[in-house]
This record gives sequence, C-alpha cells and structure tokens, in this order.
Amino acid sequence: MKKVLMVCLGNICRSPLAQGILQSKVNSEAIFVDSAGTAAYHVGNLADERSIDVAHKYGIDITNQRARKFVVKDFDTFDVIYAMDASNYDNILSLARNNEDEQKVKMILNELQPNENNSVPDPYYGGNQGFENVFKMLNEACEIIAKKYYI
Ligand code: 4NP
Repeated sequence: MKKVLMVCLGNICRSPLAQGILQSKVNSEAIFVDSAGTAAYHVGNLADERSIDVAHKYGIDITNQRARKFVVKDFDTFDVIYAMDASNYDNILSLARNNEDEQKVKMILNELQPNENNSVPDPYYGGNQGFENVFKMLNEACEIIAKKYYI
C-alpha cells in the first residue's frame, strides 16, 4: 500500500482539503492518505469551517479529520510527503534525517506545474473565495497524482 501525507502549516485549511480530495479519487485499499501541520496551533481541531464548507459543496466530507502536528516518524510511515507551500517544504526538510527522508518531500503543485515550485496560497486570513481557489488547485493536482500513481 502506498502512503501519502499532505502537509501545511495548521492542518486545518489546505492539507485537510488535499487529503479529502485525493481520498475521493483513489481506492482506499491501494493508497492511504493522511495530513498534518508543521505547527501545533490547532492540534485536535476540526478543519476550518470554510474548508469543510467548500469540500461539502463538491461532495467531499472532511469532518472525520482532526488536526495533528507533523512528526519525524512520518518520514518512516509515508512514501510521499506533499508540502502545500515553500515554507512548509523548508520546515519539513529541516527535520529530515537523511537523503532518503529528503527525497520523499515534494511541492504538491509541481505535479501540475513541474519544477516551478509554486505554493498553494494560505487562505486562512482571507474569505471564502480563497478556499474555492485552493480547492480548485488541489483538485487539479490530486487528479494528476491519482492518475499518475495510484489508480
Ligand atoms: P493551513 O492554514 O496551514 O492551510 O491549515 C492556516 C491555518 C492556521 C493558521 C495559519 C494558516 N494560523 O496562523 O493559525
């Protein structure tokens, strides 16, 4: 079984959406998807209401998720670790113990725009449109991830 981890800062806005979207596109027996945040601000919390709402609008329920912090052991558990933005990427890499750990970390939008290192914008301080925008980006990236590796 392939194991994929989606990582953002708080694990309440972007990575819960990435988790829910990818799970909706793949066979759960073939791939395990989880998410985490590099910060502990929201540990144990539900996803942000605006993420729950936009996911619901597109038929995806993410209310089973609770925020957790990324831990070094995640490098052992997961095959691929997708960072939502450049800062998440740097924070995860700073915890890598060796080259094998480092190789697992990728910028999620590089699946859509290879080598551009584009970031999924942090929608936390904005309005609902930001969440809609994030959903669309992640949906396109996860479509490619699902097709490329996991169906
Ligand atoms: P996320 O968004 O990293 O996509 O979950 C954020 C959530 C919380 C905060 C910042 C970004 N915060 O500062 O609490």
